[in-house]
Amino acid sequence: MRILSGIQPSGALHLGNYFGMMQPAIELQHEGEAFYFIADYHSMTSLFDAEERRKNTLGVALDFLACGLDPEKTVFFKQSDVPEVTELTWLLMTLTPMGLLERCHSYKDKVARGLPVNAGLFTYPVLMAADILIYDSNVVPVGQDQKQHVEVTRDLAIKFNETYGQTFILPEPRIRAATAKVPGTDGAKMSKSYGNTIEIFGDEKRLRKRVMSIVMDSRTPEEPKPDADQNTAIRLLRLVAPPEVAQEYEDRLRAGGLGYGDLKKKLFECYWAFFEEPRKRRAELEKNLDYVQEVLRKGAEKARSVAAVTLDRARRACGLV
Ligand code: ADP
Ligand code: TRP
Repeated sequence: MRILSGIQPSGALHLGNYFGMMQPAIELQHEGEAFYFIADYHSMTSLFDAEERRKNTLGVALDFLACGLDPEKTVFFKQSDVPEVTELTWLLMTLTPMGLLERCHSYKDKVARGLPVNAGLFTYPVLMAADILIYDSNVVPVGQDQKQHVEVTRDLAIKFNETYGQTFILPEPRIRAATAKVPGTDGAKMSKSYGNTIEIFGDEKRLRKRVMSIVMDSRTPEEPKPDADQNTAIRLLRLVAPPEVAQEYEDRLRAGGLGYGDLKKKLFECYWAFFEEPRKRRAELEKNLDYVQEVLRKGAEKARSVAAVTLDRARRACGLV
């Protein structure tokens, strides 16, 4: 089984990225042959600062390795080190109906929010389809927001296979219900683009502030809260605390008598403990950046050899060769 996923180096990684994608992906490493990459080409649709991209790319590499990606088992690389993927994007683009892309939420949301959109952003799902298809991927672990993109990938694979003969494998998204949509500090989906994130790594004082800034309602501590399971801090606590601790705090909130400040303090404590080991590993890796670059270089070499074979198959199928 080939497992594949990618993440953009468009900012510091957060709890949504971790529980929605990284943790499931890291667990899946042992169930098949995993290919994970840093989607730097994709980041070009929204980030226009070269130095920032370089810094974030290294940051994502450190974060993934610190969180348990095993480079001995998993092929870990930078998307742009396999330029074959852009050629496959072109082949797929010629079979992509405009309407299919016009219906994609990620693009529609940006238009709705009045953000400037470029052709790269519009065709972003085709590049993502090429990422998935070029490695003959079976399973794609992602958060809920990427489900539609995997469906587009399947549509394009079917269209190509129907037009030019069997060439691509149809991938399946793998989405964990419990962590498909991790809430941010404002209760909406945690996302780099909404400014509501709690990062995985960073300065303790700043991150404590982020946790304490989680938006709560104005009910008094004494008031019983029958909707305790919907509370953002409780939802996050369930991810980072032992189950009995999360249950205890949820029960206390429901019964009344627990202040939001105390709840958030507990959340910070559990979150900080949860990432203690990865934090230590990250600090070690930061002292050994040559090793990190070497992991990415080796990963690119392996990924490129696999991509070349698929691209050749596709080129032959459509009559370029
Ligand atoms: P962002 O929305 O912060 O820009 P990305 O689009 O880079 O995040 O997402 C990278 C991966 O993390 C994707 O698989 C995405 O589905 C997952 N992800 C991002 N935010 C969340 C969230 N709040 N809950 C669950 N998964 C998420
Ligand atoms: N679009 C994904 C995101 O923003 C990143 C990505 C690019 C990806 N190519 C992919 C994810 C292929 C899974 C498979 O999160």
